[in-house]
Amino acid sequence: MTHRGQLSERDGVPVYGNYINGTWQAAASGKTGENRNPAKPDDLIGHFASSSAEDVEAAIAAAEEAGPAWAAMSPIARSNILYKASEILLARASKVGADLTREMGKTLKEGIGETSRAGQILRYFAGELHQPDGEHYASANPETLLFTMREPIGVCGMITPWNFPIAIPAWKIAPALAFGNTVVLKPASLTPLSAVNLIEALDEAGIPAGVVNLVTGSAGAVGDPLVADDRVKAISFTGSNAVGNGIKEVASARGAKVQLELGGKNPAIVLADADFDHAVTQVINGAMMSAGQKCTATSRAIVDRKIADKLTNALTDRIGKLSVGDPMAETTTIGPLISQEAADRVAGDIQKGAGEGASIAVGGTRPDQPGHFVTPTLFTGVTPESFLGQEELFGPVLGVIPVDDMDEAVAVANQVRYGLSASIFTRDIGRALRFVRSVQAGIVHVNSETAGAEPHVPFGGYKGSSSYSREQGKAARDFYTQVKTVYFDPPPTA
Ligand code: UN1
Repeated sequence: MTHRGQLSERDGVPVYGNYINGTWQAAASGKTGENRNPAKPDDLIGHFASSSAEDVEAAIAAAEEAGPAWAAMSPIARSNILYKASEILLARASKVGADLTREMGKTLKEGIGETSRAGQILRYFAGELHQPDGEHYASANPETLLFTMREPIGVCGMITPWNFPIAIPAWKIAPALAFGNTVVLKPASLTPLSAVNLIEALDEAGIPAGVVNLVTGSAGAVGDPLVADDRVKAISFTGSNAVGNGIKEVASARGAKVQLELGGKNPAIVLADADFDHAVTQVINGAMMSAGQKCTATSRAIVDRKIADKLTNALTDRIGKLSVGDPMAETTTIGPLISQEAADRVAGDIQKGAGEGASIAVGGTRPDQPGHFVTPTLFTGVTPESFLGQEELFGPVLGVIPVDDMDEAVAVANQVRYGLSASIFTRDIGRALRFVRSVQAGIVHVNSETAGAEPHVPFGGYKGSSSYSREQGKAARDFYTQVKTVYFDPPPTA
């Protein structure tokens, strides 16, 4: 497959551009940055536009210019374009998934799965445009036709993370476009190729020039001017709490709509009556897939003390057998972390956790091979208030916290500043229901892992994990539209 987004080649390595006003183009400065494979740092994937405020300006101007015509188009015509993009992406999911794995490091199966998810998200929002979008009300005046309709907000700025480099851009862009907004996307600088692949699908599907724009580069050079610009009426961000809160301050101060998806410290409670093997599998999947680099990853196994040793032994055994290595290889279950910096940080945090008195049951090492690998790590003796009990590590690290009963389990689950996702494993429907009602989390699982998200239901967290708005499904419609209330009276008859 040749990439539309490829401008040229430098020593056999592709050079990719920004997508602004319907054309692929170099950064105004001509500067580029490297994108390397985290499993094989010698593998140079491409050179990507290293953009600046000048490119952001051009993208916002294009998005603003394209806005009225896009908003005025029939929703069915917009739906057709999104549907076509979904078909293009789904048809090439293996190739795009392989690109994703090569730049991000999750296994090929996960890379292809995430690409398919992005295709399904585009398809869902294509379908959503066939749904009613307003409400009819009674009026005090019997002559009045009183109803609401939804209208776009305008130019939306998306700032997306490297851990879901195609699904998260898709789940922000698809609803924004569906409801008639135009977009400037700033993808994570570590994973620009997946964003190029997504934009290529929209370009090939015939999206009009300026409706969606891609500007690659650093947070400071691209993200900051995007967040600060008065023409950008909504900002959707997924990433760290520190960056998200900074964005919120700037964007809300100038009156923009802001949506934040931030960190998690997600618990999985395992009660003594759970289906044991199922719980072990799900807890490991939740904690270790994508090397734990999900805001929905399980990082605390809160377990009934009666089965704590048995669970620890089973987790130790099974985590020790996970196959760490090249994520392109079919036998690999755990790939690298995203960067050297991330691997160093997680390795440092593991040492810090061990220094606070928790014990490493398995893992905690850096395999002696190129690539940013950290072995999947299980800690025992983690206390709820400790560093490992409180902080999001964003790596393949799970801590076991034994508790005496269900009430203590829920109290411990809630004793963190985050509240994204939470699981319980039990056969007791009464306890499961109590958990559903009392856990402080935006996404709750009974007998399944904390990670995962279907496109048609709301996604987001409680407390420090999100702003109050939700992504995906009908919730996305609420964020990407504003409501107009119409009092429609006939002219008085003579
Ligand atoms: C998932 O669990 O499959 O950045 C999705 C994240 C979340 C998405 C998780 N916003 O990890």
